[in-house]
Amino acid sequence: ARKGSSLVREIREKQSMNKSRQRFWELAGSKLGNILGVEKTAEQVDADTAVVGDQGEINFKEEAKFSQHLKDKAEAVSDFAKSKSLSQQRQYLPIFTVRDDLLQVVRENQVVVVVGETGSGKTTQLTQYLHEDGYTTTGVVGCTQPRRVAAMSVAKRVSEEMETDLGDKVGYAIRFEDVTGPNTIIKYMTDGVLLRETLKDADLDKYRVVVMDEAHERSLNTDVLFGILKKVVARRRDFKLIVTSATLNADKFSKFFGGVPVFHIPGRTFPVNIMFSKTPCEDYVEAAVKQAMTIHITSGLGDILIFMTGQEEIEATCYALAERMEQLISSSTKTIPKLEILPIYSQLPADLQAKIFQKAEEGARKCIVATNIAETSLTVDGIFYVIDTGYGKMKVYNPRMGMDALQVFPVSRAAADQRAGRAGRTGPGTCYRLFTESAYQNEMLPNPVPEIQRTNLGNVVLLLKSLRVENLLDFDFMDPPPQENILNSMYQLWVLGALNNVGGLTEIGWKMVEFPLDPTLAKMLLMGEQLECLDEVLTIVSMLSVPSVFFRPKDRAEESDAAREKFFVPESDHLTLLNVYLQWKSNQYRGDWCNDHFLHVKGLRKAREVRSQLLDILKTLKIPLTSCHMEWDVVRKAICSAYFHNSARLKGIGEYVNCRNGMPCHLHPSSALYGLGYTPDYVVYHELVLTTKEYMQCVTAVDPQWLAEMGPMFFSVKETDTSLLDHKKRQKEEKTAMEEEMEKLRRQQAEAARME
Ligand code: CDP
Ligand code: MG
Repeated sequence: ARKGSSLVREIREKQSMNKSRQRFWELAGSKLGNILGVEKTAEQVDADTAVVGDQGEINFKEEAKFSQHLKDKAEAVSDFAKSKSLSQQRQYLPIFTVRDDLLQVVRENQVVVVVGETGSGKTTQLTQYLHEDGYTTTGVVGCTQPRRVAAMSVAKRVSEEMETDLGDKVGYAIRFEDVTGPNTIIKYMTDGVLLRETLKDADLDKYRVVVMDEAHERSLNTDVLFGILKKVVARRRDFKLIVTSATLNADKFSKFFGGVPVFHIPGRTFPVNIMFSKTPCEDYVEAAVKQAMTIHITSGLGDILIFMTGQEEIEATCYALAERMEQLISSSTKTIPKLEILPIYSQLPADLQAKIFQKAEEGARKCIVATNIAETSLTVDGIFYVIDTGYGKMKVYNPRMGMDALQVFPVSRAAADQRAGRAGRTGPGTCYRLFTESAYQNEMLPNPVPEIQRTNLGNVVLLLKSLRVENLLDFDFMDPPPQENILNSMYQLWVLGALNNVGGLTEIGWKMVEFPLDPTLAKMLLMGEQLECLDEVLTIVSMLSVPSVFFRPKDRAEESDAAREKFFVPESDHLTLLNVYLQWKSNQYRGDWCNDHFLHVKGLRKAREVRSQLLDILKTLKIPLTSCHMEWDVVRKAICSAYFHNSARLKGIGEYVNCRNGMPCHLHPSSALYGLGYTPDYVVYHELVLTTKEYMQCVTAVDPQWLAEMGPMFFSVKETDTSLLDHKKRQKEEKTAMEEEMEKLRRQQAEAARME
């Protein structure tokens, strides 16, 4: 399955994955994603049994192997958390042995790079040590995380260790959620939040120390922060910066800041026995489930950690595991130890996330099924077995489509080694790799590609421009993004009207920066202002900023589809979202009403929160909340203006092509526009999702006249009916013209700099 990495193969691989996923989902009925009662059809039960019977190579007789000495060994090491108080646990961490030396180095240097194994205590302890050493008397200790889940869960843990309420002395901030207060002295946040704070306060005056955690992840925002914080360090002598990394190649960070000291936390890890798969694995979900079951039945106690790529697969895996356990228990005469199956991924509700840190009940084994979030961001003690699929999801900018797409890729060797290391934290462990040794040696990259080199830079460009970084190609990037990506992103911003012909921010551009939104959604809001339907557009943007609110349990698919259809506004999925929100509102925002209508109440509540926060920003900008009072055509016009690059015209039944690049795209069966006997000639869409086909997600019918009116650089009415080639040619000419203008400006600036 893992031969080379051409796009075609990539897609084929994905499709075969989809098949296996589908199969699991079919089996899964509805058990996981939805907690409602399940009633299986006879057919489903048959299918389940067939799959369980399939696992021929697992020898059930081996249960006897739960021998006493293995049990004792595992219990001795992993009972630690249960028996020790939090403060005792703190002192047991590897970082504690070097606490004083570390603080000394920090006192003597403005910037320090700290390297330590995952779980050594960097994230939870560093901030507390800094607090104990007095830094919080003159400012806040901030700590950035590339992932929101990590920011939340770590803040919670530290607030417990410091015996304070979360949001009091210790708090966190992620986009649209600020759990800090006037007393907060230790603040965990996503790197994106700190980046936005630099807009308001370029010198970050409220911070005494910033810990840039998980720097090895090289997230887009962390990479931009590197360049910005380097300047803060130069301007503020009282400011300290600590950069932490879980991997050894931290010299790069040290060099970037001019050769600052690298402090190593001595590791306390145990050997991990690595087992490669002998043959490439066809279906890694199936293989992982089998391996986990084998371990559970034949190996001594100790928890299992499985690495999958994303939510769907994690749910499928968890379900399959639960099914097989059930089957095993009912068919075996011996008592089978319990297996606690725990998923973890970024969209999982916080209370369920917290479960992975709780100790398994007496005699039970935990099996955590995670995305790469468990690679370094979260540490769970007591893992003895790691099962690694060797894959992860990555956001990659696809220049052909002009957009980011989340795709499944093989992980890097460094990441695979990190994953394996999770098995050796509490004692000697084993890592089962579901890929061959030759794949590891020959097909995996040594290190992950930094996000900045592979994603759309729209937000970054907007942000840097507003920080008055005139020439992006000269910004102090540790690894500069490809010039083509910068120019492409600039082009998209220019099309949205955020940049002028010479690459400077326009009035709209300046306003767009104020919103913690993607440029397209910010533009939609501002068009709502212009077209006097802001109230409506605000709701739509908020609904688009939360996960889908439609609840579709597999076993009640028809019922829930019917419920959803009642909300349909035939010409627009965006307006359908608006409709849902308005009806919820007119039902007093009630939770039981959501349940009755197959809507996720949590999602809607989140949308309401996002809405009120965006409204606050609008108020500070003195933008009045106008309404078009059910004259929804004008709302569609505002929607249209934000999605020029995502406009498509009808080609066949349910089949469209992108107006600019001719890429095929299809109406999704869940769309309000699907199967109503009404297919508009022109549509715009929120995003393209690649599954078996290129599906447009969230679609709105538009009048071609609007495209011509508001996007004159792309379309003229006449032209919308002429050949695709013409469009392409025109688009290319315009892009070249813009690039030339910018190049001219660049030369002028360089010239001016030389003269000075
Ligand atoms: O950042 P680093 O990987 O070096 O370690 P850490 O996240 O500070 O974790 C230190 C210890 O705290 C580990 O033993 C974790 O298991 C524990 N921890 C926890 O029990 N609950 C959390 N939410 C976070 C950490
Ligand atoms: Mg950490």
